[in-house]
Amino acid sequence: MVLVTGGNRGIGLATATRLAGEGHRVAVTYRREPPPGDGQVDVLGVCCDVTDEAQIDAAFAEVEAQLGPVEVLVSNAGITRDKLVMRMSEADFTDVIDANLTAGYRVAKRATRSMMRNRWGRIVFVSSVVGAMGQAGQANYAASKAGLVGLGRSLAKELASRNITVNVVAPGPVGTDMLNELDEQRRSAIIEAVPLGRLAEPSEVAAAISFLASDSAGYVTGAVIPVDGGLGMGG
Ligand SMILES: NC(=O)c1ccc[n+]([C@@H]2O[C@H](COP(=O)([O-])OP(=O)(O)OC[C@H]3O[C@@H](n4cnc5c(N)ncnc54)[C@H](OP(=O)(O)O)[C@@H]3O)[C@@H](O)[C@H]2O)c1
Repeated sequence: MVLVTGGNRGIGLATATRLAGEGHRVAVTYRREPPPGDGQVDVLGVCCDVTDEAQIDAAFAEVEAQLGPVEVLVSNAGITRDKLVMRMSEADFTDVIDANLTAGYRVAKRATRSMMRNRWGRIVFVSSVVGAMGQAGQANYAASKAGLVGLGRSLAKELASRNITVNVVAPGPVGTDMLNELDEQRRSAIIEAVPLGRLAEPSEVAAAISFLASDSAGYVTGAVIPVDGGLGMGG
């Protein structure tokens, strides 16, 4: 089965919907609002804040009891708290690292238990083009997203002998709540910088995750797959 963190909206929901449509049993974590119960998305929602190890353990236990062992983990939950470093508090920095990077370590560690036993697994971390490029006002976010690459590649080496692949998807700007929070001027500047001249649809990021989760991607590990409209260009 597939577990997607932060799967009640945005990229996580698009990923859960796509993988459920492909026939996987899918569970998602959410904090306040469960995924839409409109009948279009057949996923199990479990409440879990990924900054809390005990909640992660309880969420895994619940999904394992209902749907079986986690075979595919998509570590997607993430936050921003944009500020110039001059104005950034230590909590602004460490809270973003905790939710975006340390949480990735927590969920991956928990997921590897059953993956090691089954000698098969897929872990996908959702990073960002900003992790490689940097972005004024996003030092905390960029550091967390760059950290996911080091975490993912180290895990890829640790887990390869157990037939567990670990990869990173690095989206550019995607049309979700995260980007809708920005003012119009900043959104337009971001879109202008993208060679393809538009935001990504969440489903376009989900498509790359779906490939990495598939049997076809069995020889892909430690990779960083950009889905960024050409913004990073290998940077
Ligand atoms: N949108 C973009 O332009 C963009 C670009 C590159 C990378 N990304 C990355 O893609 C991922 C998904 O982003 P999105 O655009 O879909 O954002 P979003 O619409 O703001 O959704 C964020 C998701 O993360 C969950 N979340 C945040 N903190 C959490 C916590 N402590 N515990 C559990 N869940 C938590 C949220 O749950 P609640 O609903 O409970 O808050 C929500 O489901 C993030 O890692 C983001 O950094 C986004």
